[in-house]
Amino acid sequence: MRCGSMACCHRRLPEAEGTVVITRPLAPADTRPQVMKVDLEEVLAQPGRLLSPGRWNKPQVREVTVGDHPVILKDWRTMARWLRPLARHLARREARIYGLLQHLESVPRVLQVGDRTLVLEQVPGRRISRLRGHRAAATAAQALEEIVARIHAAGVYHFDMRKRDNILVTDEGKVYLIDFTTSVAPRHYGPLGWLLRPVAALVDRYAVLKWKNALAPEVLSTSERRLLRGLDRLRPWRKNN
Ligand SMILES: Nc1ncnc2c1ncn2[C@@H]1O[C@H](COP(=O)(O)OP(=O)(O)OP(=O)(O)O)[C@@H](O)[C@H]1O
Ligand SMILES: [Mg+2]
Repeated sequence: MRCGSMACCHRRLPEAEGTVVITRPLAPADTRPQVMKVDLEEVLAQPGRLLSPGRWNKPQVREVTVGDHPVILKDWRTMARWLRPLARHLARREARIYGLLQHLESVPRVLQVGDRTLVLEQVPGRRISRLRGHRAAATAAQALEEIVARIHAAGVYHFDMRKRDNILVTDEGKVYLIDFTTSVAPRHYGPLGWLLRPVAALVDRYAVLKWKNALAPEVLSTSERRLLRGLDRLRPWRKNN
């Protein structure tokens, strides 16, 4: 399952089947553990710890231990039987988006892809909202902004960062983005993608400004403050997360 170049790895990851997926860092700057052998059957056989029960349109999410390592299993097989094609589509879609971002340290690695299942590196982080009032808040808010710029440069727009559960921060202050269920990669939509891109960029920008304002309002520039107020006015029904 090894491949020669990094670009090749990006393309092949989402289709990977078998037992070993990642045997080396995907990017030179990546300092995370390099070896992770994951047997999909072993992961699926474990009850693990339930993180999200899933719904008719959502996967069940469990934390499972492989060897000494906790990993995350997203399992769309728990969706209704008659929705199997949709479940397969959603699973492949999220795997494909993760695949586009595997060179980024701030996105969990894909460890296995199965039929309606996805095994991810577990990020030992807590939701970003816990940083409110903490002195690391300003750094995290700025790190989030940089990460979002990088995922956009990779052609992906997250679309769901207003939800505090989707941004995790480790004790060392590293920020991770998770949950690419509703994310879009405009390049997959042909000419429609050109229309989608600015809207998607604005939705993500709004989320970043919201977090900067919530965590460290002093880092907002005057123009950012103005943009945030303008976007807030467009959403009079908004509620705070
Ligand atoms: N790689 C990861 N590392 C650590 N925790 C994770 C990871 N992926 C998911 N989780 C945890 O599992 C929860 C559910 O996962 P995720 O958000 O990807 O699924 P979801 O179906 O979109 O659920 P929801 O709609 O509740 O957000 C997350 O809020 C987070 O607590
Ligand atoms: Mg989520």
